[in-house]
Amino acid sequence: MSSHVFHRQPGHAYPVAVAGDGCWIVDAEGRRYLDASGGAAVSCLGHSDAGVVAAIKAQLDALPFAHSSFFTSQPMEALADELIAHAPPGIARAWFCSSGSEAVEAALKLARQYFVELGEPARCHVIARRQSYHGNTLGALATGGNAWRRKPFAPLLFEEVSHVSPCYAYRGRQAGETDAQYGQRLVAELDAEIRRVGAGRVIAFIAETVGGATLGCVTPVPGYLQGVREVCSRHGVLLILDEVMCGMGRCGTLHACKAEGVAPDILCIGKGLGAGYQPIAAMLASAPIVDAIVAGRGYFQHGHTYTGHAAACAAALAVQRAIRERGLLAQVRSRGDALAARLHARFDAHPHVGEIRGRGLFQALELVADRGTGAPFDPQRRIHARLKLQALANGLMCYPMGGTVDGAAGDHVLLAPPYIVSEDELDLIVERLAKSIDEVLAQAV
Ligand SMILES: Cc1ncc(COP(=O)(O)O)c(C=O)c1O
Repeated sequence: MSSHVFHRQPGHAYPVAVAGDGCWIVDAEGRRYLDASGGAAVSCLGHSDAGVVAAIKAQLDALPFAHSSFFTSQPMEALADELIAHAPPGIARAWFCSSGSEAVEAALKLARQYFVELGEPARCHVIARRQSYHGNTLGALATGGNAWRRKPFAPLLFEEVSHVSPCYAYRGRQAGETDAQYGQRLVAELDAEIRRVGAGRVIAFIAETVGGATLGCVTPVPGYLQGVREVCSRHGVLLILDEVMCGMGRCGTLHACKAEGVAPDILCIGKGLGAGYQPIAAMLASAPIVDAIVAGRGYFQHGHTYTGHAAACAAALAVQRAIRERGLLAQVRSRGDALAARLHARFDAHPHVGEIRGRGLFQALELVADRGTGAPFDPQRRIHARLKLQALANGLMCYPMGGTVDGAAGDHVLLAPPYIVSEDELDLIVERLAKSIDEVLAQAV
């Protein structure tokens, strides 16, 4: 079938998705795919939630869209109320957009404008972590620390960015070092980087609370993020947490940072916010930042046409109420434990699974050539790309990615099933994943 769509991979023949059924997607040939990754950690309520669909239809009947430079809207106000009522301490306002990348762009611009309003225009530098992913727009890509994503666009990326080590114990913790010592070493590295740049020049430190697309569900060691928070506060540097992938319940708490006992100055959310029913993301900002903008020029110098889109806000509101009212956070924790138990039972002894990690319904396997040394596969084998295709052929959607170790070598596969996944479906996920991994590893190099 020829296509006029400029697909992600124009030469590739994609199946045509025509229907959703709980955790499953059905294609035009009637084939069913079990969605073990929520697309890319998006579809937390599955693909056919009648309540969310009804809420969108009702909003479309009432008012699809009103431009946010003229009006506010009832669903935007109600969604902000819902989010702020359950936000980390200090977070006061919600700013809406249509993608996680836009939320990160907005966070960077807000952080910069905050210091301009305070009369500190020399602050222009952002510190992020290697192997992070914050989105594909230019500002977000510039802060992201994944080498192969950055490389072709390097001349277009703003240069006032530097990167410190990720908190990636499987590869970063030294022999004989405890988790606590490792975390403190990384905190000291951040502190040293802020001093190197000059505290009066740094706007913010940005990090994914739990590393997602590029690292594969890497949870921070205990105490690390608290140390980061302390260092940022001490230097007057804003802490931006990017929970576009790991937040909104994915790790078993509404915000992943809750489990770390840390509150950011700015929090980016997306994906599970609207669960894929509408494109929506948000940036949540703390009171002192909002106050500085109000006392300064009086407006945030930013915005998009679809900021606060009414139908998108109605969808997200219905999703968030469903998560709360149906007790789905507790379900994420229990099904997450059930998934982890199944993964450990199936892969603990697997010669090519180096680590099984994650939290809640956000779990990953790191695939290695040698389990003893942790040596990655030759990147030429493109294990991750083959696994995605093989799993799809086996009726399973999972989210493998390459470059896990350093942006070039390494493979992992990320699982992020809908919060409504059943125990039987978890069995099927692990069975199909194991089959797919073994089939790929058996393929000729
Ligand atoms: C942590 C993180 N931030 C930002 C983004 C970008 O979000 P979007 O693809 O909606 O622009 C992603 C997407 O995977 C993400 O995982």
